[in-house]
Amino acid sequence: MSDFKERAEALDTADELAPLRELFTLDDTVYLDGNSLGALPRHVPARMQEVLTREWGALRIRSWGESGWWTAPERIGDRIAPLVGAAAGQIVVGDSTSVNVFKAVVAATRLAGEGRDEILVDASTFPTDGYIAGSAARMTGHRVVPVAPSDVPAALGPRTAAVLLNHVDYRTGRLHDLPGLTAAAHEAGALAVWDLCHSAGALPVGLDAHGVDLAVGCTYKYLNGGPGSPAYLYVAERHQEAFDSPLPGWTSHADPFAMTPGYAPADGSVRGRVGTPDILSMLALESALDVWDGVSVEAVRAKSLALTDFFLECVAAYAPEGRVAPVTPVSHAERGSQVSLRCENADGTAEVMRVLIERGVVGDLRRPDVLRFGFTPLYVGFADAERAARILAEVLAA
Ligand SMILES: Cc1ncc(COP(=O)(O)O)c(C=O)c1O
Repeated sequence: MSDFKERAEALDTADELAPLRELFTLDDTVYLDGNSLGALPRHVPARMQEVLTREWGALRIRSWGESGWWTAPERIGDRIAPLVGAAAGQIVVGDSTSVNVFKAVVAATRLAGEGRDEILVDASTFPTDGYIAGSAARMTGHRVVPVAPSDVPAALGPRTAAVLLNHVDYRTGRLHDLPGLTAAAHEAGALAVWDLCHSAGALPVGLDAHGVDLAVGCTYKYLNGGPGSPAYLYVAERHQEAFDSPLPGWTSHADPFAMTPGYAPADGSVRGRVGTPDILSMLALESALDVWDGVSVEAVRAKSLALTDFFLECVAAYAPEGRVAPVTPVSHAERGSQVSLRCENADGTAEVMRVLIERGVVGDLRRPDVLRFGFTPLYVGFADAERAARILAEVLAA
């Protein structure tokens, strides 16, 4: 046991990202739930105080122009862009991921054109994507075909309009092959739509490099934007002119203040907007993104893999035989930034997590039997990983 503690100390000392932890509001619990809700960056409350008192309180309506509120969705989209490998001008921030899934799926079917009546959807998708794709399919005369991501190449065909996939599976932490599956979709003449909720801010995505067509993601996990912070929509530049939003609200109009009855879409990423942006949440997100200044996603990925490797090693060494088994792939090429452990005793899983939280290790669970531990490299260290594995082992042994 002391061997792992010593290794953790050495790894933390050598870790160039370790000082970033000081940028966050944390306590002495081990916070491994940043894959659900990221921690609060320390400087955000002061910025929000300024937004409330000066921008809203004193300037009021003037802030739409003078404080840059009106252009916030594109400006913040451009801040997220380098984190997901996108050039500027392709990401707009706003609405929830669920709403953006709707925009992206319907728009993809419209871009795909005639004769293609199937939408392939990740069979183990986060539920909202499946529900919304199902409704979008009914509205547009398409058919949803649930497919395991690894079976997508075989399922693609001349009838496929679009494929909707999760980059990292929310339950298992499995990372799917975004470059390969995007290329396979294109070979079949279909569009690739990716949900980046569990990858953005945790690992390189390479949207432009891999030719992704459309993507959506949330900002409250590894981007630390705060509870319910707005999501984003990526529309590759080559599709923007033909992007036909199913929710053409007034703020995506080419001349919104003309208030004309006829809709004429704006150019560029603005076309992905719907209604009035949720400014308070959006500006909290913008402020939270400051922690990324000078931080490379590649360095974050390297630390994430080292952390999850180390945690898996500690669990294997500490946990009583046969009580938990990793469902997260061992291979780095297939691992996101979380470790999911299946409990041998499904009925006791919730109790294990309850006691873990009581003892200062915060993860979460997905019913019936999966314990999830998210590793946010910006503020989680190796000593945290060792402590979490040690306390988990004690709880399992009790
Ligand atoms: C992969 C994935 N997609 C979609 C969502 C839903 O996002 P929202 O509730 O913000 O619409 C989540 C939420 O956790 C998610 O993990």
